[in-house]
Amino acid sequence: MNRRVVYTRGGPPSDVLTVVEEPEPAPDGGQVLIRTTAFPIHPGDLLAVDNYPGEAGDPVPAGAEATGVVEAIGPGTTVAPGVEPGSRVTVFSPGAWSQWIVADAEEVVAVPEELSDEVAAQMVVNPLTAVMLRREAEEHPVFAYEGVMVQTAAGSSVGRLLTGMCQFHSLPLVNIVRSDGGAAELRKRFPDVPVVSTQHPDWADEVREAAGGRPICVAHDPVGGKLAERLLDLLSPGGKLVIYGPLAEEPITVHAAKVLYQALIVKGANLGRWRLEVSAERRAADVSAAKQIALALADQFDVPATYGLGELAKAVEHAGRPGKIGTVLVRPW
Ligand SMILES: NC(=O)c1ccc[n+]([C@@H]2O[C@H](COP(=O)([O-])OP(=O)(O)OC[C@H]3O[C@@H](n4cnc5c(N)ncnc54)[C@H](OP(=O)(O)O)[C@@H]3O)[C@@H](O)[C@H]2O)c1
Repeated sequence: MNRRVVYTRGGPPSDVLTVVEEPEPAPDGGQVLIRTTAFPIHPGDLLAVDNYPGEAGDPVPAGAEATGVVEAIGPGTTVAPGVEPGSRVTVFSPGAWSQWIVADAEEVVAVPEELSDEVAAQMVVNPLTAVMLRREAEEHPVFAYEGVMVQTAAGSSVGRLLTGMCQFHSLPLVNIVRSDGGAAELRKRFPDVPVVSTQHPDWADEVREAAGGRPICVAHDPVGGKLAERLLDLLSPGGKLVIYGPLAEEPITVHAAKVLYQALIVKGANLGRWRLEVSAERRAADVSAAKQIALALADQFDVPATYGLGELAKAVEHAGRPGKIGTVLVRPW
């Protein structure tokens, strides 16, 4: 028997997520059967449930990432080095919140021995997002020479990984968070990276000051709304606002003149498109970079709590709690 988390309509995740029982799956050619040991509850997983546009109908499997142990490999399947029966692996694959997963072999990533299950469970999605955001910055023609990037919600799991990566590669970054407490926590972890709290009315001036007169070329923002509007004011001409999450309820309102005369770029970036649009070679290189991030920054993969599958509603509530640091995990057995 397999227990899997599903939803049949959109809405608040604690209302619409349920656990169903189904027969244990078997792998076909090209597939790997994994017995999962832990899965993360990412904000994006919950936003997908909340904003599900479809009519009520067949169950939609929830979740995007899980770690576990290879149980079996389908006949004639080519797997990555280190993927074999009994080995620890992580998958980034729709419907990952399940005791058993049948995944396409190319989505199965071997877990380095040094990593705990807690880090392995979040080894792909958030590090890959940081890799994607770094690339967005480096593709900006001015950033590479003299520019600065800023990011909001910088104390998030993704934000801390991007910060660690920027520190390692000496990429100029100014972090922005929504509370003084969040700023103090981030400063403790990354004393050399400037951090500004939007609790201060003059926070935008503080960001400019932290940028030291250099052009703010790229702003990474998973929030949107009024915060994103303020970022557009901060960007230098030709600057790029990268929206990678919709945490704010309100829309972003911007006058066409601002975008036009400042020649600004507003771009959405998400791993769903990465899966579809990026070449297999680049995906493999990005996953390999994600693994390196997990190894180098293992202490930034905080887990505030781990719940059982029977406590899913509690886990979901905890995952959305303001001020929480890190990623809530579920152990499915
Ligand atoms: N595009 C993609 O493919 C992709 C992939 C991964 C993640 N994401 C997005 O990245 C974001 C962060 O994910 P995560 O797993 O790193 O999150 P996380 O660890 O749960 O952290 C969430 C962060 O967002 C901050 N926050 C929440 N609402 C906010 C608001 N209205 N204004 C300002 N800050 C706010 C929180 O601040 P406090 O600490 O003050 O509560 C916290 O630092 C999410 O929006 C997620 O959907 C996108």
